[in-house]
Amino acid sequence: MNAYCEPRPVLFQPTDRADIQHLLTCEGEEQQALFQAARAARQAAGMDAVKLRGVIELSNYCQKTCDYCAIRPQNKEMIRYRMDADAILAITAEIVAEGITTVFLQSGQDPKSDAIVLEAIPRIRQADVNVLLNLGEKSRAMYARYVEAGADSYILKFETSDPVMYQNIVGTPLAKRLECARWIKEVGMKLGTGNIIGLPDQTLDTLVDDILLAQELQPDFVSSSPFIPNENTPLENLGVGDLQLTLNSIAICRLLFPHALIPAVSALEKIKKGGQLMGLNAGANVLTINFTPKDFRDKYAIYSKERFVVSLDHAHATIAAAGLRPRQAAQPVQSVSSCS
Ligand code: 5AD
Repeated sequence: MNAYCEPRPVLFQPTDRADIQHLLTCEGEEQQALFQAARAARQAAGMDAVKLRGVIELSNYCQKTCDYCAIRPQNKEMIRYRMDADAILAITAEIVAEGITTVFLQSGQDPKSDAIVLEAIPRIRQADVNVLLNLGEKSRAMYARYVEAGADSYILKFETSDPVMYQNIVGTPLAKRLECARWIKEVGMKLGTGNIIGLPDQTLDTLVDDILLAQELQPDFVSSSPFIPNENTPLENLGVGDLQLTLNSIAICRLLFPHALIPAVSALEKIKKGGQLMGLNAGANVLTINFTPKDFRDKYAIYSKERFVVSLDHAHATIAAAGLRPRQAAQPVQSVSSCS
């Protein structure tokens, strides 16, 4: 290695809240150095290969009343749907055919989809792929049943670490959410968590606390997403979340969680063309490709009706532009056609 080839990246290692706060707002050359350090940390951890997930949004029924989300029950404009296990399996076959090895089942918090998910998981697992869930707050027993069925990971974002903000915006206690996060780990699943950047009353201090809370939870996956105003919600007139803050938060998370899966979420692309590439350049290493059929997808309006829908082509182009490669399957995956 020739020491004169490239300047050494500045070694950033935030150790306290003052460091995190400073890095959250850094700009210009310092921000570029932060991103470079995040990429170096990702590479040193062997986490440069970009993980692709295929998401199926299986139900837009939801019990939660989150002020930012259009699938809240108060939104009577929303036409509701719930897929059955056969529909989920048909879409799984498309995901598997693309060589994607994580099937991501996402839904509003909808108790009526529990039985469907429990039926679908073992059938999906026959294709030798991982099952990642994002279905909201459940009982500890239900999380354990998902594991028995074959799920291995679960995303439950805390959204904000401020208990007052959380209660005001989400309508239920943060403590309940955190208890669920603990249960998810206790029953043996990997945990994904994270925040939304740009919520009302959020301060820089809150965002530092978000990162510290993520550290306490020791997640396997962590995300920061910019807030997207959503039609027919109480926050429809709020501005979008700040892109630079979100990118800095992603980079800080990479430094603090070098081995984590960190997504460049579709909301980044929604607020800026090329936003997901910026996410990868800030240290992210996951892209989620949407396999929800169009009819349903249009009704799963978590990021507004005109959300950015990530296609396989967009994902591959973004990965190539970042100078990275998609993560290869450890072994060839079996066809899902045998699953019934
Ligand atoms: N803006 C940003 N993130 C949102 N989510 C839902 N609605 C929005 C929005 N309007 C995120 C939440 C939730 C995940 C499934 O989607 O963080 O946990």
